[in-house]
Amino acid sequence: MARVLIENITKSYGETEVLHGINTDIQEGEFIVIVGPSGCGKSTLLRMIAGLEEISSGTISIDDRVVNNLEPKDRDIAMVFQNYALYPHMTVFKNMAYGLQLRKFSRKDIKKRVDQAAKLLQLEELLDRKPRQLSGGQRQRVAMGRCIVREPKVFLFDEPLSNLDAKLRVQMRLELRKLHRRLKVTSIYVTHDQVEAMTLGDRLVVINAGYAEQIGTPLDLYEKPATLFVAGFLGSPAMNFIKAQISADGKQARLSDSVQIPLHTGSADCGGKEVTLGIRPEHFSLTEQGHSTLPLTVDHAEFHGADTIIYGRLPGNDELLTARLPHIHHISQDKVLHLTAAPEHIHLFDPASGKRI
Ligand SMILES: Nc1ncnc2c1ncn2[C@@H]1O[C@H](COP(=O)(O)OP(=O)(O)OP(=O)(O)O)[C@@H](O)[C@H]1O
Ligand SMILES: [Mg+2]
Repeated sequence: MARVLIENITKSYGETEVLHGINTDIQEGEFIVIVGPSGCGKSTLLRMIAGLEEISSGTISIDDRVVNNLEPKDRDIAMVFQNYALYPHMTVFKNMAYGLQLRKFSRKDIKKRVDQAAKLLQLEELLDRKPRQLSGGQRQRVAMGRCIVREPKVFLFDEPLSNLDAKLRVQMRLELRKLHRRLKVTSIYVTHDQVEAMTLGDRLVVINAGYAEQIGTPLDLYEKPATLFVAGFLGSPAMNFIKAQISADGKQARLSDSVQIPLHTGSADCGGKEVTLGIRPEHFSLTEQGHSTLPLTVDHAEFHGADTIIYGRLPGNDELLTARLPHIHHISQDKVLHLTAAPEHIHLFDPASGKRI
């Protein structure tokens, strides 16, 4: 177990800077997820922690020791990739043992460690098989086993589940979480999948175009997104963004001549301002028509089993709004629904800076 401290890390390829000063303090035993869209710099950051990529500026420390110039093999780190490339001609046992053999462990120690890992990963029955005789999920577990036997201080994962089908991904996600609870090894996990991030991470680092937009627990980020980017990135279906003007006393948001909705009392200092309101689809509820309800003209509805996702438009606004209502609703096109959202669930953002108000 180790603490990993990332301070002002930048990365440039030639003239192009792709990471612009990342800071994160990862605690001993923590499971941190680095999440963001394709190309934002996640793998680059992870590879710098592993020592596979040179650091342009800043420092990375593991347990108070700066590792910038340390060889990957001296960092006491193990990494699982998306393409985990098991050795096809070796058995499961050999695949897990190989790294230890290279490090000159005794046969007895190797057997003990591999047996332990196999038990933990439920691979005991499969130790004599070759990789081609395994399912995708089993192969993924062998790749994990290869890392576990080394008993590293830090685990790094780069999209390790993205080659698996949706069902297996959910199952492996659970297994990873359980494994972490038992081993308690500091883990840094990269994914572009926000659901994976929310369900796996103790804390998330949301990266956008080489900047860390926000760091926090899944609940922090869901309840108090610091920027429009984080607000729109986490949550499915995505948060709705609606332009509005705040009344002079800060108590109402005016969406159009006919639509005004009440705000939380803490909104007083943005009286008169143009803002972007953020409302999550699941925070709308159906109500009777009233003077502060949102009249949504239905475009279409999707049944998702436990709930219904409604797409529709507000008067004078062409953008589709999404509402997620529990249970099944049979709603025909062009019907007008009256929605409300509790003021504490209405987020305010500055449209110019994208920052939360
Ligand atoms: N060797 C390289 N030379 C030049 N540019 C590079 C190199 N490696 C990565 N990049 C650029 O750096 C940026 C970050 O790449 P990175 O692989 O870290 O993205 P990522 O967030 O892991 O994306 P993905 O989700 O697609 O894996 C990208 O714009 C990429 O084109
Ligand atoms: Mg990547």
